[in-house]
Amino acid sequence: MISPVALNAMYVILGASGNTGSIIADSLLSKGKKVRVVGRDPRRLQRFVRQGAEAYTGDVSDAAALTKAFTGASAAYLLLPPITSREDQERESDAIAKAVKESGLRYAVYLSSYGAHVPKGTGPVTGLHSAEQKLNAISGLNVLHLRAAYFMENNLAAISMIQEMRIFGHALLPDLKLPMAATRDVGNYAAQRLLNLDFSGKQTRELLGERDLSMTEATAIIARGIGKSDLRYVQFPYDQVQQVLEQTGMSPKKAAVYIEMFKAINTGVLAAQEPRSRENTTPTSFETFVQDVFAPAYHGKARVA
Ligand SMILES: NC(=O)c1ccc[n+]([C@@H]2O[C@H](COP(=O)([O-])OP(=O)(O)OC[C@H]3O[C@@H](n4cnc5c(N)ncnc54)[C@H](OP(=O)(O)O)[C@@H]3O)[C@@H](O)[C@H]2O)c1
Repeated sequence: MISPVALNAMYVILGASGNTGSIIADSLLSKGKKVRVVGRDPRRLQRFVRQGAEAYTGDVSDAAALTKAFTGASAAYLLLPPITSREDQERESDAIAKAVKESGLRYAVYLSSYGAHVPKGTGPVTGLHSAEQKLNAISGLNVLHLRAAYFMENNLAAISMIQEMRIFGHALLPDLKLPMAATRDVGNYAAQRLLNLDFSGKQTRELLGERDLSMTEATAIIARGIGKSDLRYVQFPYDQVQQVLEQTGMSPKKAAVYIEMFKAINTGVLAAQEPRSRENTTPTSFETFVQDVFAPAYHGKARVA
């Protein structure tokens, strides 16, 4: 049931220029809602200002800035930015929780991850678990933790390797079925729950994508979608993936945090808790994602035909 608070609500959206935040901002603005979009770069917020949003420039590790951003809002979309380090994640979630408390915010949808029920040993997801705990400790806050599946968009990182080596190499087991979700579905789901504000207390909801897929199956769908029938999935040893990540400019410490997550997925530590249902299944199939997002990105970047 739609909460009466939702009728005249003002919303704050963290990460508004990002994958999920931009979908939420567009959706709420298209419904005539009052929206304050937050990010570090005001230029990336301009397109929402043109649709009627108020832009607020601030860093998620700055509790005072976030307190101001949340002041007067009925509800917020909260997220931690992509990990820079585990220590930064703790600083960011401390600042967000402090600002939520001090501003008296009553409703929040927080972007977490599947596996966030596990307290440690899951790489970046450990920081998302910790943020859930900090938000759960705030009395009076109604919070919905969205435990989203592995993003389909993560696979875009393989484009150069596919172009140059004609393989999709990764640390994940070839035949382990994973839930994979399109970020637009996560954004649309979050937007709907923000529009309704139909949650109370501390709640979680996994979002598990359209179906579970193994990396071998995902690679076969990519192969068809980009017209490279010889494309194969190859599981790389962890130390080789660590090296590849470092070659992309990642610090060894940050790369190790990702390796910890891949190990947690491969060993079943990081896994969905909810049985698949209508409520936690989202519409975009991997085939549609490849057609709409992966193939255009692949062809847009293609140098090696
Ligand atoms: N990848 C996965 O499989 C997966 C699965 C489940 C959950 N998640 C979680 O999803 C979250 C990322 O969500 P997303 O993909 O929607 O975001 P995203 O596309 O990575 O965008 C992050 C946004 O946050 C802003 N930002 C970055 N650093 C900031 C800072 N220090 N202060 C304020 N704003 C900052 C960026 O804009 P500016 O640069 O302009 O500030 C950007 O718009 C992470 O917490 C991740 O752990 C990921």
